Amino acid sequence: PSGKAWGGRFEMATDRRVELFTESISFDHRLYRQDIRGSIAHVEMLARVGLVTDDERGRIVTALEEIEQEIAQGRFPFSIEKEDIHMHIESALIAKLGDAGRKIHTARSRNDQVATDFKMWVRDALDRVEAGILTLQRAMILKGWHWRDAVMPGYTHLQRAQPVIAAHALLAYVEKLERDQGRLRDARKRLNECPLGAAALAGTSLPIDRRGVAEALGFDRITANSLDAASDRDFALEAVFGLATLSLHLSGWAEEWVLWSGGEFGFLKLPDALCTGSSIMPQKKNPDVLELIRGKSARVVGALTTLMVLVKGLPLAYNRDLQEDKQPVFDAFDTVESILAVAAPLVEGAELNRERILRDLEDGFLDATTLMEHLIARGAPQRSAHETVGRLVAECERRGLRRLSDLDPALFAQIDPRLDAETPKLLGVAQAVKAFRSEGSTAPDLVETQLRRWADRLQLT
Ligand code: ARG
Repeated sequence: PSGKAWGGRFEMATDRRVELFTESISFDHRLYRQDIRGSIAHVEMLARVGLVTDDERGRIVTALEEIEQEIAQGRFPFSIEKEDIHMHIESALIAKLGDAGRKIHTARSRNDQVATDFKMWVRDALDRVEAGILTLQRAMILKGWHWRDAVMPGYTHLQRAQPVIAAHALLAYVEKLERDQGRLRDARKRLNECPLGAAALAGTSLPIDRRGVAEALGFDRITANSLDAASDRDFALEAVFGLATLSLHLSGWAEEWVLWSGGEFGFLKLPDALCTGSSIMPQKKNPDVLELIRGKSARVVGALTTLMVLVKGLPLAYNRDLQEDKQPVFDAFDTVESILAVAAPLVEGAELNRERILRDLEDGFLDATTLMEHLIARGAPQRSAHETVGRLVAECERRGLRRLSDLDPALFAQIDPRLDAETPKLLGVAQAVKAFRSEGSTAPDLVETQLRRWADRLQLT
């Protein structure tokens, strides 16, 4: 009388408030393609092992394909009485086929079904994110090629520190993105085992072929333990952790570019098409896209937190709490995909304001460390060399001089005889950046080598 799939042991209809409270169709309808694909693989297996006839299999597959079309074309009626996507598709199948439709749920529970559908959904979404990361990396490498000769200040503590090549800064993000890519690929590998056949929690007494289903659905193997399979959400946690780390990287990058494009730094010009204005201040051009990249990363971190708290303290095996896993995962992927879709065009459209960078490039004694290293190379102990250059900087500040090269050359020799007539030639930011030589440094030739290496690796050119 409850009118539900589980109606047999119930005497009363479900309270409307419970239906409203427990439904998941409002969000898990997004699993419909995976659910249908899973059901087709399942019924083909049922036919192979003799649990449905070949005729039933054929009718079920055709009906499932029709249902898929109806949903895709928006002709399929959804209602919360049927709770979730799995029940919707099953009841539509029964409405079309009668008893044959009543066989689809043989040797299956929604517990292993939902885990399978969700894994397939996450797998597809991971593939889209992988492509998005690659596009962004390629945009950064191409832009880096144009910026390979641009010297700019590098920072620690947001204080001017040493000169760097602008491309070197972009390549730093390419490296971070590559680790993000690696984490997401790892998650995909570990995720790719098929839960179907775990049934409710303990498996089934029916003679199913789990391996055949796993293979048909593109899984590398089957899960080894039915209790684990029905309760595991590590795959969602791991994928969302990968997304969270990625969003944190992009949030840091966005923050940096907000600063660089602002009037105080003035290093970067963003394309008009990717900026917005102010409704009151006519002169404004705001980096809202970058700010929202920074802001939206909060949602992804929030999703990770939700998932972690959700699984904390759940006993084996399926618990209804697990239904709450979908929205954070969907939102994390939607958010990251939307970020990636605007990040690449921003990189493509950004231009360095080279004049502005040059104007102040000699500020902040960016060559001081190089001068110290010059002394060390000539035999001075590091601590003494540090002290010597520190005193030269202090001398500049006392005399109101902007650059080390503004000091009287005689003063250099006076403070340390190793600082001879050659010394002034080493000074200045343009010289300092050429002095780098360690692997992984910002030396212009090494940066160019890295750009070529990345272009090769990501099949640019
Ligand atoms: N709507 C449920 C979910 O998304 C399906 C699984 C229900 N299983 C159960 N034993 N009630 O998790």
